[in-house]
Formats: sequence, C-alpha cells, structure tokens
Amino acid sequence: MTPRTPLCAANWKMHKTRPEAVAFADVLPSLVAGELERVEVFVCPPFTALAPTVDRLTDSVIRVAAQNMHFEDSGAFTGEVSPSMLTELGVDGAIVGHSERRQHFGETDEALARKVPAALAAGLVPILCVGETLDQREAGDTEAVLRGQVEADLADVAENDLERVVIAYEPIWAIGTGENATPEQAADAIAFIRSLVAARSESAAETIRILYGGSVKPGNAPDVLAPDGIDGALVGGASLDPNDFAAIVAACR
Ligand code: PGA
Repeated sequence: MTPRTPLCAANWKMHKTRPEAVAFADVLPSLVAGELERVEVFVCPPFTALAPTVDRLTDSVIRVAAQNMHFEDSGAFTGEVSPSMLTELGVDGAIVGHSERRQHFGETDEALARKVPAALAAGLVPILCVGETLDQREAGDTEAVLRGQVEADLADVAENDLERVVIAYEPIWAIGTGENATPEQAADAIAFIRSLVAARSESAAETIRILYGGSVKPGNAPDVLAPDGIDGALVGGASLDPNDFAAIVAACR
C-alpha cells in the first residue's frame, strides 16, 4: 500500500458554459460521495466558469483547478491570468504544461520552470503534465523526453516542496484518441518519472502523486489505473459527463 491519497482530476478543456459547469458541480458531490474520503477530486473548468464552479462546490471537499496560469503575479501580459487571480476566486490548483498548450500555444519548459514554483508559492497545487509523442515513443526516446521535461520543469522547485507537486503522465498519442496506454506502459513511465523525483529527494518520490492521463474512460479505468504506483487519473473527454467521471473517480480508489 502506498501512503499516497489517489487524485482524480477532470480537465474540461474548452468545454462548458457557466450554466453547464454549475449543473455538473451540482450533481457531482452526491455521485462521488462514497469516494471522497479516499480520493481527492479536482474539477478544472475553463477560466470563465471557475468562479461559479467554486461557488457551487463550497460545501464539498471537491476542489477546483485552472487549466493554465502565468508565473508572474501581475504585469503587461495580455490575455494571461496570474496565480493570485486564481486564489482570489477560491481556486486550489492549476494544470500546467498540458501537451495541448505545449503543441498549440508555445508552452516551453523554461516557462514551466517558473510556473511550477509560482503555483506552489501561491498555495496552488500544480498538476504538471508530461508525455511523449508517438514518434518519440517509436524512436525509443520516451525516457529521454520525460527526463528532459521533468528535470527542466521541476528544476527550481525546492526539495521540500517537490511532494506538493502532482505530475500527470500523458502520452500525447493517447490524448483524445481513444487509444489508452496499456497498464504496463503507464506503470513503466510513471515508475521512471518517480525515479527522476527520487534522484532529487527519496522522500518526495514516496509522497508525490503521479497520475495517468490519455483516453481514460469508465470502461478502461479499472485496468489502466490498477498497477501500483499509478496514483489516479487526469481525465479529458470522459470528464464532461458527471456519471462517467464519477465512475473513474471510483476506479482511482
Ligand atoms: P482525454 O484527455 O481523456 O480526452 O484523452 C486527457 C487530457 O488531455 O488531460
């Protein structure tokens, strides 16, 4: 048994209006009521729906995270949102480094090296996404890619703070494709990521949560999340439906 509390996060991406987010937040707590003592649950709405989602979940232990943030606290950064703007809303975390941001919006490891400590300093849980493309996997470069991302993105996180980071291993070829990694592929990559953390701090490696993400569905979640060392899931498409997401939360236990 690991000493880690599993974590399950719903990444809604660019989906859900405010009324749709509120409708989800109103039904989720009762759907996962039996799991909340054993699984930590995050919902990650688009920026526009953060405030009403936080509001509707005030009486629940379910927490809300953003899908991105800037590392500075204020300044001339048109279109960006700062860590303190998120905490002001009652937001408790932020996904950073999602592959869609790396691929389509120029997110760099240099920026992530600042975002992860900035999130921690603001009291936000950073959910740092890492993962390889299919070409990189087929070329045998998976570990090199993961090493590069993890070492760079966590470079400026103090050893004592590492355990507060959540890492999501999300192979890019499995995101939104319906093709999930096998439990073995996920477990191997996550064990490798944990070894990278252990090289910085053995105790942080014991405590840090490392999730799997990529086409997790109610049907495959019990299998793909079963191996030891997989501490939960970051769920995209299947998190848009509260019943599907609740089934995955149950599988994270
Ligand atoms: P998916 O997305 O579950 O739709 O594959 C996962 C993610 O991008 O976090």
